[in-house]
Amino acid sequence: MSRSLVLLGPPGAGKGTQAKVLSELWRIPHISTGDMLREAVRSGSELGKKVQDIMDRGDLVSDALMNDVVKDRLSQGDCQAGFILDGFPRTLPQADALEGILKGLGKDPVQALEIQVPDAEVLKRLSSRRSCPGCGKVYNLLFKPPKTEGVCDDGCEGSLAQRDDDKEEVIQDRLRVYHEKTSPLTNHFKEIGAWKGVDVVGSPAEVLEAIKKVLSE
Ligand code: AP5
Repeated sequence: MSRSLVLLGPPGAGKGTQAKVLSELWRIPHISTGDMLREAVRSGSELGKKVQDIMDRGDLVSDALMNDVVKDRLSQGDCQAGFILDGFPRTLPQADALEGILKGLGKDPVQALEIQVPDAEVLKRLSSRRSCPGCGKVYNLLFKPPKTEGVCDDGCEGSLAQRDDDKEEVIQDRLRVYHEKTSPLTNHFKEIGAWKGVDVVGSPAEVLEAIKKVLSE
C-alpha cells in the first residue's frame, strides 16, 4: 500500500520530530522542505542564495520555487511506496500545485495530518530548540536537553546551534505568516475529506500514539 502523508501545524508543532519517527516506522522518506532549503543555504547553491534572506526573516519562499523543488523530489524513486511531506504545502496555491504534481506522477492523493499546538507552546519550544551542526539531531533545552550542555550526544564536533529563525522576534513573524497563509489549509483539506488532526500537548511519545490512533480510524 502506498502511504502519503502531509504534516500540517504551526512552526514548532513537532512536525519534524514526528515525521522522523513515522518515516523510520513506515520506511518511507521524510521530505522536509525546511531541511532541504537549509541544506541549500549551507552548500551555497543558487537556490540557497535566493532563499537565505527570506528564511532568516521568517517569510515564505515563493510558491513557484517551492513547487519546482517538491516536484523534483517527489519524482525520485524512493517516493514510490509513499512519503511524508513536512512543510509543504504551506499556501493554498501550493496545495493546488501538489494535487497537480501527484496526478502528473500517477500518485494517489495525500492525507493531511495536523498537529495542533497553541502559540504560547510554540514560542516555548522554538526559543529552546538547538540542533547539531554535524548530524542535524534536534534537541530542546527544556524538553530534550543533550547529556552535556552544548554538545551532541552522538559525539559530533562543534557546539549545538540555534536556528537564525528561532530568535524570538522571528518566531512571532513566522507565527503571523502561519496564521495568515498556512492555516487556511485546514479547511482546504477538510473540504476534500483528507484531514485528520491531533491536539495533544504532551510528550513526543504521547503525540505519536495519538497520531497512530487517529490515522487508524
Ligand atoms: P521549516 O523548517 O519547515 O519550519 P517550520 O514549519 O516553521 O517548522 P519547524 O521546523 O520550526 O518546526 P517543527 O514543527 O518541525 O518542530 P520540531 O519537530 O523541530 O521552514 C523554515 C523556513 O523555510 C520557513 O519559515 C520558510 O521561509 C521556508 N519554507 C519551508 N517550506 C516552505 C514552503 N513550502 N513554502 C515557502 N517557504 C518554505 O520541534 C520543535 C522543537 O520542539 C524541537 O526542539 C523539539 O525537540 C521540540 N518538541 C517537538 N515535539 C515536542 C513535544 N511533543 N513536547 C515538547 N517539545 C517538543
